[in-house]
Amino acid sequence: MIPIAKVRCERTAGEQAAYWAGILPATWSFMLAARARGLGAAWTTMHLPYEREMAEIIGDPYEKTTQVALIPVAHTIGVDFRRAPRQPVESVTHWDHW
Ligand SMILES: Cc1cc2nc3c(=O)[nH]c(=O)nc-3n(C[C@H](O)[C@H](O)[C@H](O)COP(=O)(O)O)c2cc1C
Repeated sequence: MIPIAKVRCERTAGEQAAYWAGILPATWSFMLAARARGLGAAWTTMHLPYEREMAEIIGDPYEKTTQVALIPVAHTIGVDFRRAPRQPVESVTHWDHW
């Protein structure tokens, strides 16, 4: 699944904050919905340097859109999922000031 915004993203950082806030949660919701149906999904972006080539393959009007990810979706081999290694939340959380 390739989430595609229906505008070309060439904006200021402030405008981009609202822009990304629209499509990225939708993409994440898609992944959660897949998971609820027993499907595995992974967030990838490595194809984006080749966004134009991908657009040609899938018929995406490149000048008017922005691909934001590529989400492989598949049935998983087993369900032996476990938590990924994470930094302690205290190391990335700030209270009241940075
Ligand atoms: C913005 C973003 C882009 C990513 N792009 C890729 C990618 O192109 N290829 C890849 O193998 N993993 C990529 N990953 C990592 C995987 O999607 C996934 O986050 C990683 O395997 C850890 O999964 P977990 O957090 O469920 O354990 C990306 C992750 C993020 C957040």
